[in-house]
Amino acid sequence: MLVAQVTDNAGARGLIRALRDRPDGALLDLRVAVAACFFVVIGGQSTTGRLISTVLRTAAGNPEAWARASAEDGFARAWVEEVVRREPPITTWRRITREEVELSGVTVPAGAGLLLMLMGTGSDPEVFADPDHLCPYRSNVRQNLSFGAGPHRCPGARPALAEAEVALREAATVLPRAQLEKDAPPSTLGLLSFRAPLRVVVRLRSANRKSPGPPS
Ligand code: HEM
Repeated sequence: MLVAQVTDNAGARGLIRALRDRPDGALLDLRVAVAACFFVVIGGQSTTGRLISTVLRTAAGNPEAWARASAEDGFARAWVEEVVRREPPITTWRRITREEVELSGVTVPAGAGLLLMLMGTGSDPEVFADPDHLCPYRSNVRQNLSFGAGPHRCPGARPALAEAEVALREAATVLPRAQLEKDAPPSTLGLLSFRAPLRVVVRLRSANRKSPGPPS
């Protein structure tokens, strides 16, 4: 179906057309165009879903954060940005060196496969004070490589952040008494490049227990 849409001159429109047409008016090679469309779908779905799982797990495990997510403008976004910094869904990424390069005193030949530890960049104690602590509103929160860097930096970063922000704010609004079920057995996807909770189990605090509420 994707191949048919990419090759259909009359029918291709929207995102598919934008991906297929090069700025100089030529068409992308069919295989590249289909791969690009496919990657946008794959790259945009499970990554964001996993980010949302981690955002919900961390916030539901922190009653103050859960209360602030629905009550305080900007808090849900700030929490999401912190999770992207400290617990991004993509932990590593591969690169191949185009030419010989020296990295930290080590000469890496052209054509070498590298595994970049993206996640580590958000936990660098020389950049972030108390890096393991989720601390919303850090001024330098985006100084990390969770969405990559350079010309291939993730084009979906903005929608991903927006989706996770809405998911957290809405969940905290609809389920104000939810809190993480700490006794639920942990269930984590722990692949080389992908990490996230496979499920987030919450229970509802009893109605008469006072909510912590946002700090005054
Ligand atoms: C939390 C969610 C996401 C994370 C953590 C993430 C992370 C990344 C990373 C690390 C890269 C590689 C960047 C590089 O090579 O320097 C990338 C590339 C890419 N991402 Fe995302 N992504 C997310 C969401 C999305 C969404 C929502 C979309 C699409 C709507 C998307 C589409 C893409 C595409 C098409 C590329 C390839 C860009 C290129 O090679 O030029 N991603 N992403």
